[in-house]
Amino acid sequence: MSNAKQVVFIGGEGIGPEVIAETQRVLRWLVAERRLGIEIRDALYGAEAWRRTGKTVPDETAAALRSSDAILFGATGGPDYDALPPEAKRQGNLLRIRKSLDLFANLRPIVAIPALAEASSLRNRVLEGVDFVILRELSSGLYFGEPRGIESLPNGERRGVNTHVYTSGEIRRVARFGFELARSRRRRLCSVDKANVMEAGRLWREEVQALHDAEFADVELSHMLVDNCAMQLIRAPRQFDVLLTDNMFGDILSDAAAMITGSLGMLPSASLGPVGADGRRPALYEPVHGSAPDIAGQGIANPLGAILSLALALRLTLGEPGAADRLERAVSSALATGVRTRDIMQEGATPVGTRDMGDAVLRALERAA
Ligand code: IPM
Ligand code: MG
Repeated sequence: MSNAKQVVFIGGEGIGPEVIAETQRVLRWLVAERRLGIEIRDALYGAEAWRRTGKTVPDETAAALRSSDAILFGATGGPDYDALPPEAKRQGNLLRIRKSLDLFANLRPIVAIPALAEASSLRNRVLEGVDFVILRELSSGLYFGEPRGIESLPNGERRGVNTHVYTSGEIRRVARFGFELARSRRRRLCSVDKANVMEAGRLWREEVQALHDAEFADVELSHMLVDNCAMQLIRAPRQFDVLLTDNMFGDILSDAAAMITGSLGMLPSASLGPVGADGRRPALYEPVHGSAPDIAGQGIANPLGAILSLALALRLTLGEPGAADRLERAVSSALATGVRTRDIMQEGATPVGTRDMGDAVLRALERAA
């Protein structure tokens, strides 16, 4: 039996296939050059899969999702996805994958990249030394709570309903993940909630505090209301180490935090499930940017969010932390040569497209080899 780790690449919709193609090139280079025990395959998903197989998640893809060690996912959404019939959408959407693999821990590292300081709307002195992780609960809360739906009322009005709901178990498992993560970093965790208004927020705060007191007293814990957190993220982001949020708040705060790196296009993410009986944990890696339909198919999307997601996969799932470090350094050194996709463009830099940026990272890897 082969010990090789299985990595499945899913381009998905919008700019997904473009950024995933570059990411796969980078992994193929690392595998060849470093003889890594990694097997690569592609899987169809979403609108493209529907056109070719009549299913948004073909059986082969479903099997690959279950059996792979890591999934590298591009993006989903946009006009192609919107045009799908409702039953196809129900079958193939990112939220469904997250739920079915129980991907409860979503990591979004926010690190200021000095070479990109100009691309950020924030001042240099605010950005300097910023290095934290948003840990977003990804499998529950407002995104999945029942009841949900749009109903017609007797008076002719319509009513939209979603439910913000968390159990103590759901809160504790993501909080535990956060405290353990904090122990591997600067031992500080800030938990975000809306405990002044919402019961689910009050429970969130109580459970995080109780777990801390029982098992993680060595980690410095603070609680912050989400509205204040939005301000603190752009006022003084250096204060954060691990930022623990629920599903909805993490979605919003991570877009705001993206400005610290200069562009949403730079942000990688890892979504992890619980460790199974076989010792493996489901793991999906994807750039945070989404499908960006306005620039899809033009070859101008920034592939670095996806490439940095591969670095996370190498570190967290594929047992190749050295390769992860090398890849992150290669991204910095590619940027240092002055190449920029449109989203991070600055005066005097060389404008490049998706493929050229992939080339720049490969050249940086070669230089360092
Ligand atoms: C994200 C995205 C998704 C989310 C969308 C595409 C459903 O915005 O991963 O942040 O809201 O979780
Ligand atoms: Mg989002």
